[in-house]
Amino acid sequence: MNASFKCSSAKLSQLPDDGLREIALIGRSNVGKSSLINLLTGKAALAKVSATPGKTRLINHFLVNEPDGSKWYLVDLPGYGYARASKSEKEKFARIIVDYITGAPQLHYLFVLVDSRLEPQKIDLEFITMLGERGIPFGIIFTKSDKQSVDKTASNIARYGRILLETWEQLPPMLVTSSAKKQGAEQVLEFIGKILG
Ligand code: GTP
Ligand code: MG
Repeated sequence: MNASFKCSSAKLSQLPDDGLREIALIGRSNVGKSSLINLLTGKAALAKVSATPGKTRLINHFLVNEPDGSKWYLVDLPGYGYARASKSEKEKFARIIVDYITGAPQLHYLFVLVDSRLEPQKIDLEFITMLGERGIPFGIIFTKSDKQSVDKTASNIARYGRILLETWEQLPPMLVTSSAKKQGAEQVLEFIGKILG
């Protein structure tokens, strides 16, 4: 594939209006969304990465050109859960995020990124619950798998599944990546290929 930066949007009215479908990445600040954009596109500096949480502030669209001529957007969203104390949903998950996931006309599928090292975090589970309530289709990508052993990643994911099954009838699709070790991109791209089918 060949990918390039298309535009940054601060509100829905600024999104591209060319009708192309959008696959978006969401998750806590610092979970590795922008790094995953770079891994998937094979371009190390396409999306801006930072060790400081809160780097991505706008909705960033990256145009993907497939060899067969088809086009779609990979969308990098700002992170949630960073220095937001309020209980209101719009402030917990910044307004721009909620506006996008509930109102973007071309949003086709959402990947919720979760740090594979951590035990299930309340804010992620709340976000996932919100997606369920609104009927927004999503999968989970467990990031930073290089930070621990393969076995530890597997047991953390199994634990995640058990917690989700307390409230969900069925588990969402779950994938594993490491941007540092450049692992998991093929599986994610193959999955996206099926979704866009
Ligand atoms: P915000 O834009 O602030 O919401 O963060 P983000 O989710 O886009 O995270 P970003 O890609 O900027 O990465 C945050 C930090 O985690 C950076 O220091 C990355 O180098 C690091 N990081 C991202 N992915 C991985 C990974 O797979 N493995 C390791 N070890 N570090 C990673
Ligand atoms: Mg980012």
